[in-house]
Amino acid sequence: MAVVGIIPAAGSGERLGASGPKAFTDCAGRPLLDWSLDVLGQVCSRVVVAVPQGFENGGPDRVLGGESRSASVRNALAAAPEATVAVVHDAARPLVTRELVERCIAALPGWEGAIAAAPVTDTIKQTDAGGRVVRTLERSTLWSIQTPQVFDAGALRKALDVGDEVLAGATDDASLVEAAGGSVRVVEAPPENVKVTRRADLLLAESLLRAH
Ligand code: C5P
Repeated sequence: MAVVGIIPAAGSGERLGASGPKAFTDCAGRPLLDWSLDVLGQVCSRVVVAVPQGFENGGPDRVLGGESRSASVRNALAAAPEATVAVVHDAARPLVTRELVERCIAALPGWEGAIAAAPVTDTIKQTDAGGRVVRTLERSTLWSIQTPQVFDAGALRKALDVGDEVLAGATDDASLVEAAGGSVRVVEAPPENVKVTRRADLLLAESLLRAH
C-alpha cells in the first residue's frame, strides 16, 4: 500500500486579505502549509503539494496548481502514479493531527473514501433566492465536511477525470467520488480541525496551535 499525501495549496487567499497566497502566509511563526506538511509527512511515503505559479521550486514534490481546488488535486495526484491510497488535505487546515489522518486511513477498507467531518451544531435552514425559509433540515443527520479526505487512489483518479467546469463546481473531492458512484463514509474529527478562510480564523488557529 503506497499512501501518498496530496495538499492543494494553490489558492490565492483573497478572503484572508493576506499580501501573498494563503498557504504561505505566516501562521504561528511558520508558513500555514508547513503545519499540514509535517503531519502528513509522518504518515505518508511522500507528500505532493500543488502550489501557485512562482512557488514550484520552494521544496520537493511541488507541482503547479490548477484553476480550481480539485484541479490542483488532480495535478498533484498525477505526479504520484504509485499511490494506492491518497490522503488529500487542504493547506488551510493547520490543526490536522496524525491521529485523525490515521483514523481516516483505518476507516477506508471497504469504501472508496473516508472523510473527516464534524456533526453540525447549528440549526440549518434552506431558503429560496429571496431569503425566505423553505425548509428546516434534520440536524441529526448533517455533517460539516472537512479534510483530510482519504481515498482509494484509483477511485479518486477516475472521479477527477472529468471536465474542468465540473472540477470548478466541486467544493470537495468526495463529492466527485460520490458522483462517480463511489461510497464515502465520514470520520468524526476533533473540534479543533478548523479551516483558515478569514482573518478571524487565522487568529483562532494561531491561538490553538500555540496552546498545543
Ligand atoms: O479557497 P479554499 O480555502 O476553499 O481552498 C481550500 C484549499 O484549496 C486551500 O489549501 C487552497 O490553497 C487550495 N486551492 C488550490 N487551488 C486552487 C484553489 C484553492 O490548491 N485553485
